[in-house]
Amino acid sequence: MLRRTLPSLRSVKDGVADAARQATKGDAHFPSLRGHPAARVNARESAEGQARLAAAEEERRRGGASPEATSTVKEFQVYRWNPDSPGRPFLQSYHVDLATCGPMVLDVLQKIKSEHDSTLAFRRSCREGICGSCSMTIDGVNTVACLKPVDTDTSRATMITPLPHMYVVKDLVVDLTSFYQQYKSVEPWLKTKGRKTAAPGGGEGREHRQSPEQRKKLDGLYECILCACCSTACPSYWWNSEAFLGPAALLHAYRWVSDSRDDYAQERVQSLSEGWDKLYRCRMIKSCTATCPKSLDPAAAISAIKALHQLRKA
Ligand code: SF4
Ligand code: SF4
Ligand code: FES
Repeated sequence: MLRRTLPSLRSVKDGVADAARQATKGDAHFPSLRGHPAARVNARESAEGQARLAAAEEERRRGGASPEATSTVKEFQVYRWNPDSPGRPFLQSYHVDLATCGPMVLDVLQKIKSEHDSTLAFRRSCREGICGSCSMTIDGVNTVACLKPVDTDTSRATMITPLPHMYVVKDLVVDLTSFYQQYKSVEPWLKTKGRKTAAPGGGEGREHRQSPEQRKKLDGLYECILCACCSTACPSYWWNSEAFLGPAALLHAYRWVSDSRDDYAQERVQSLSEGWDKLYRCRMIKSCTATCPKSLDPAAAISAIKALHQLRKA
């Protein structure tokens, strides 16, 4: 088996100190993670975790501390349930050597599947936080596994379970049919009333121009990857998932309401507020915003839709 080469303790320590320094400075010093606090936390956790692993490796080489203190093997308790074998779901333990594994929880799952147990089911595709398919609950927090650094403290197990309050298809795979239908119900595409465009020549079928200011209004909205971490963290969605659209669909609805090229903002808000449940089931608990792995703020988007609705009524 290949053993991953860990960086030297000195270089990792320098890296951690540097990352911590950068994380406390403004966005200008961490340009690639500008406006992305969740990624900053992940970057810092990852650097610190790798430093801990490197320290354990170095201690072991020197023969200094006990085998338990220098172990790089960690227990992962993974939710298992197979519809084809009768029985209750259970947590299965896997012991993974972090020194031979990538730094993210998705790397651990890939390693378990390829080396320990090929029957484990989970979704993944991009491994870059773009496709939204590897969403699950890791140590009680909904997130995408490919962006979540492994907790390298080997004295405690990490628990991995499916997104909460969803029907499980198998193991970590949940049924997202209703979630996608709700997304589709907000008509997440540009709708115009046949207006002439600002493009030279005007007319239908040409591009719709936007000023930089108008485009800026979509920041914090268009980045959603539909991972469902927010909706499945929302208590209102847990209890009313058939009637309440949930934070992800509502964030997308607001993305189209905010788009200067769309001519149906008023009708969109009206349709969202009809029947009360779709929008007003949100009680501003804000679990959605707290858990979003892309640092988006669905609660603020929902608030903005409610404000637009109330203003139009006044
Ligand atoms: S708002 Fe965030 S948590 Fe919710 S679906 Fe989009 S990316 Fe995922
Ligand atoms: S703010 Fe609204 S949508 Fe977000 S978790 Fe709370 S109730 Fe759910
Ligand atoms: S694999 Fe695509 S978001 Fe994790």
